[in-house]
Amino acid sequence: MSETVLPGLAGATQEAAIVAALGKRAVVLVGMMGAGKSTIGRRMAARLRLPFLDADHEIETAAGMSIPDIFEVHGEPHFRDGEARVIARLLESGPILLATGGGAYVRDETRQRIRDKAISLWLKADADVILRRVKKRDNRPLLKTPDPAGTIARLIEARHPFYEQTDITLDSRDVPHEKIVDEAIVALHEHLFRPQAASAIVTPTADPLSPIV
Ligand code: S3P
Repeated sequence: MSETVLPGLAGATQEAAIVAALGKRAVVLVGMMGAGKSTIGRRMAARLRLPFLDADHEIETAAGMSIPDIFEVHGEPHFRDGEARVIARLLESGPILLATGGGAYVRDETRQRIRDKAISLWLKADADVILRRVKKRDNRPLLKTPDPAGTIARLIEARHPFYEQTDITLDSRDVPHEKIVDEAIVALHEHLFRPQAASAIVTPTADPLSPIV
C-alpha cells in the first residue's frame, strides 16, 4: 500500500526531527564577514522555530557601544575577549541559532566550546562574493585598510583551516536565500541522522538512524 504524505508535512517533520535531535545544543553559523551568517541564520531560525541570536549584536549590547567603537576605543584584543565571553554565555542558552562574527571561531577556547555545545555550520563564500557584499556597509573595522581585497584574501587564508573544522560546510553564493536555507536544513538533518553522509568526522553508531548525542 502506498503512503500518502500531506504537502508540506515532510519538511515540517524534518525540521521537528532536527530540533528534537539537537536536544540542548545550539546551531552555530561560522564564516567570513559577508558570508550571510545573519541573513541565513535568521531564516533558519524561523524555519526551525528556534530563537535567533547574533553574537556581534549581543557584544554591542553588553558593551553599550558599536563594534567599530569597541575596536577604536579599546582595541581588537579587548573585543576578542568580550566576544569569547559573550559566545560562551550564549552557548549556555540551550537550543538557539547563533550567528558568530568572522573571527570568533579562530579562538581555540571558542572552537572547543562550540564543539561541546553545538552543531557548527560554515557558510563558505568566495573572496569576490565577500568583497561585493561587505562594500555595501562601512561597519567592519578590519577592512578599513588601503587594500580591503588583499585583507580579505589574507583573512581567508588564515581562517579557512579553522572553518574547515566545522561539522557542516555549505556554499554561500548569490542564489535566493531560501535555497541556502533549504540546503542548510537538509545538511543539518543528514549530519544528525545519517552521519556517514555528512561532511563531518563521525563515530559510527550501532543504529545509523539514531541521532548523534
Ligand atoms: C569580524 C567580523 C565581524 C565583527 C568584527 C570582526 C572578523 O562580524 O565580529 O568586525 O574578525 O571577521 P561579521 O562576520 O558578522 O561581519
